[in-house]
Amino acid sequence: MAKGFYISKTLGVVGIVVGAGAVATIIALSVVYSQEKSKNIEVGPVTTVKPPPIVTATPTLTPDPTPTPVPTPDPTPVPTPVPTSAPSDPWHKYRLPDSLMPDTYNVTLWPRLEPGELGLYIFTGNSIVIFRCLKETDLILIHSNKLNLTLFDGFHAKLHAVDGPAPPAIKKTWLQKETQFLVVQLNGNLTAGLSYELYTEFQGELADDLGGFYRSEYYEDGVKKVVATTQMQPTDARKAFPCFDEPAMKAIFNIILIHQRGTVALSNGMDIDTVNTTIDSTAVTQTTFEPTKKMSTYLLAFIVSEFDHDMAMEENVLIRIWARRKAIAEKQGIYALNKTGPILKFFESYYNSQYPLSKSDQIALPDFNAGAMENWGLITYRETALLYDEEMSSNGNKERIATIIAHELAHMWFGNLVTLKWWNDLWLNEGFASYVEYLGADHAEPTWGMKDMIVLNDVHRVFAIDALASSHPLSSKEEEINKPEQISELFDAISYSKGASVLRMLSEFLTEDIFVRGLRSYLAEFAFSNTVYTDLWDHLQMAVNETNTILPTTVHEIMNRWVLQMGFPVVTINTKTGDVSQQHFLLDPNSIPDRPSDYNYEWFVPIKWMKTGMDQGQYWLLKTSATNNNMTVTGADWVLANINVTGYYRVNYDLDNWNRLLAQLDSNHQAIPSINRAQLVDDAFNLARANKIKTTLALSTTKYLSQERDYMPWESALDNLNYFTLMFDRTAVFGPMQAYLRNQVGHLFEHFKQITDNWTKIPEGHTDQYNQVNAIRMACRTGVEGCEELTTGWYNDWRRNPDNNTIHANLRTTVYCSAIAAGDVAEWDFGWKMFLNASLASEAEKLRSALACTKQPWLLNRYLEYTLDPTKIRKQDATSTIVYIANNVVGQPLAWDFVRTRWDYIFTEYGGGSFSFSNLINGVTKRFSTDFELKQLQQFKEDNAQGGLGSGTLALDQSIERTKANIKWLADNHKQVKEWFENESKPKNNFRE
Ligand code: BES
Ligand code: ZN
Repeated sequence: MAKGFYISKTLGVVGIVVGAGAVATIIALSVVYSQEKSKNIEVGPVTTVKPPPIVTATPTLTPDPTPTPVPTPDPTPVPTPVPTSAPSDPWHKYRLPDSLMPDTYNVTLWPRLEPGELGLYIFTGNSIVIFRCLKETDLILIHSNKLNLTLFDGFHAKLHAVDGPAPPAIKKTWLQKETQFLVVQLNGNLTAGLSYELYTEFQGELADDLGGFYRSEYYEDGVKKVVATTQMQPTDARKAFPCFDEPAMKAIFNIILIHQRGTVALSNGMDIDTVNTTIDSTAVTQTTFEPTKKMSTYLLAFIVSEFDHDMAMEENVLIRIWARRKAIAEKQGIYALNKTGPILKFFESYYNSQYPLSKSDQIALPDFNAGAMENWGLITYRETALLYDEEMSSNGNKERIATIIAHELAHMWFGNLVTLKWWNDLWLNEGFASYVEYLGADHAEPTWGMKDMIVLNDVHRVFAIDALASSHPLSSKEEEINKPEQISELFDAISYSKGASVLRMLSEFLTEDIFVRGLRSYLAEFAFSNTVYTDLWDHLQMAVNETNTILPTTVHEIMNRWVLQMGFPVVTINTKTGDVSQQHFLLDPNSIPDRPSDYNYEWFVPIKWMKTGMDQGQYWLLKTSATNNNMTVTGADWVLANINVTGYYRVNYDLDNWNRLLAQLDSNHQAIPSINRAQLVDDAFNLARANKIKTTLALSTTKYLSQERDYMPWESALDNLNYFTLMFDRTAVFGPMQAYLRNQVGHLFEHFKQITDNWTKIPEGHTDQYNQVNAIRMACRTGVEGCEELTTGWYNDWRRNPDNNTIHANLRTTVYCSAIAAGDVAEWDFGWKMFLNASLASEAEKLRSALACTKQPWLLNRYLEYTLDPTKIRKQDATSTIVYIANNVVGQPLAWDFVRTRWDYIFTEYGGGSFSFSNLINGVTKRFSTDFELKQLQQFKEDNAQGGLGSGTLALDQSIERTKANIKWLADNHKQVKEWFENESKPKNNFRE
């Protein structure tokens, strides 16, 4: 998943705006370098230099229901003096006080898609917010970040009463930069129970920083096009207009966009009025949108573009897919269009709640930091996550589109209609969507086996992180999460993948019927308002009670242990005695968890298990250890627990049971469900890393793979063997390991060669198609005869005839990679040229990853340089490209050096955002396994302690912990692993120890 979030650093320019003219709103751009005193001191406006007026706009009419006309701004603003203040003053806190609550906003925005003088792109706007006073106060705090506010009589805002006596006069206003507030101090108190309206005019930069109101660019037929678009989550709505920018501050938004003639304006609601008008001799179009539902600011979206669309009706809902004109002309929106209706219908019935809006727009943007964003009624995507081409997109691209649409549509109810009160509960929002995305995608593509995929994509993925002593619990305390960077840090694998995994476990042990029943009543009760995560537990408990379902204890009691303590247990079953016990699973058994747990690192564990011959059972482990006599076996029989891996835990057995399971895999692996074959491999490898079983036992789980054809077990084995590759590919173990893998993969390669008629067809099944790619990738990597010739042959055919790429879309990433790895500069340069020419984003993506496969250090270094040049590699793709390069054994040290030397620049320009950043740190350090590398890491941490690592802080600690574990693991295992591979790679030597 390309989860990413980008927080831009200060632009370094602060503009001053001058309002002028009778009924006219002049918003002029003047860039003045701020004379702000210091970061932590309030910054009042700086004396204005005479601005060259760029645009003069007629006031953008106050839409209904605003009662007050906009008074004329004072043309000669006087700076407000900077007040002295104490640290306890409310504007030094990051959270809003509870004295005011917004009702309605009327916001008008005008993004300029042409650069102004100084080459800057800007937007201007004005806003009225009508708010209620809940508690008497003489202070208005409203978020505003990087906006230049017009001064009226020296103040940044104007205040009026709504249907009441005149409000107290404004005493002082200023911008509190650190906490991102516009502070309005009054001479007297606002009255509880009365409503007021605050008017502001502002101008901001339409920067290419991927946050707030920003700009995206692309070329069409050689002409540069600019799109104005938004990414508000979590705290950037305040970069577009002053607002109470917290998720519980729900309001109704009346939006008007002013835009160049010939462009289309989109927002959350349907457009209800479009008029052409002239504002100060600029011909523009003004689009008015229907009022939104009551909603949070982070879900707003405003977009102006020259895009085209495809559309369809699903009952009463208008569905549109928007993209670059060329992409729409090439039918790239059709797959998304066809799947959206059914997925929307699915969620309506799953939630038992009608989609509450009149339309559902989805738009593919050339520059977008995350994968997609669930703005209510106007979902934004990066192009690869929405656009599909029958010929050129792979089945993996298709799956990503189906699941990401399902994920974002799931949020339309869970997250948008009912919203968690504060960001500390983000895990429930993202975890829930990350669970039900599989249900939605399964509905759209029932033959794919989507529901099983969560095991590899989420459960296994997050186990690796949650097994570290530096992990953290799902749930954070509200008071611990305040600053924007603390909020951004929550968008991590724990919130998404552990959240999804434990919710799936919950749904499974309650049964889907009861889970859905509780969910529906939760959504019905809290529609258009906010919750905390325990509200969901309450409603699930109600469903349990109503249906007389038997649980060992309450939903709260069970779930607290999974949500409030980090990590997960390993359940150990002794099949001789029936003893079942649990222990906190730590990858490094000598590590001590960074934090204590109120539950003593014990869990209430639901155990679905089976014996040879399909004898199934259900069991709750509620303490450290217990005995279940049913779980004993004799003879050749075995016990297998955590059927379908619905539980968030690992399983260990007595050695005899392990051996009987291995014997079963060897004799007839189909007797064990495919997901559990994947689980046996993954559990064994990880138990070995934690010193709970021998590494050679784990390796033995891969021996039966010569007979395995299924995707899940192969993928699981390849993931785990990849760890060995990372640890050993620079050592003497590598040779024998390659020989062993070559032999195992050779069988799979032959199998696919056969069933595809010598690579002329593509397997039918979705996951078989994935496994075909595994076969080719691994065969080429390990040197299976005929593989490299095949891939370089295909690639060279394409080079000879660039207009006719005959390589099947599924195989492209692997074929390109293999050919570029085997080739030299000519192969690389051809790939680069094709990358620049690609009109389909997912084709460009395949090339971008393959270009990192070259073995030539100079090409890799040149490519690293390209990553920081946005004209070559888009900003949204910079960090993932560096990670691709680090995945290459030759590129890894180059990437690490590059990141270290360019750290300040990367950090400033490419943000302290969460996913992309922690991915970068994890990506460039994951091979680290020597003392020397550990020292480098520690040094890096020290060197940057001052400047900060932003959301990379946690990732760096995890890397240090992982490196230590790797060093120890290598010392303990090097010898036996080498011997094992040497033995097993000898021809016809097939015994198991
Ligand atoms: N709300 C997120 C997008 C987001 C992520 C915004 C990080 C701000 C910071 C959205 O619902 C999401 O989770 N998108 C995922 C896709 C999904 C299929 C996991 C993404 O962007 O990768
Ligand atoms: Zn999400």
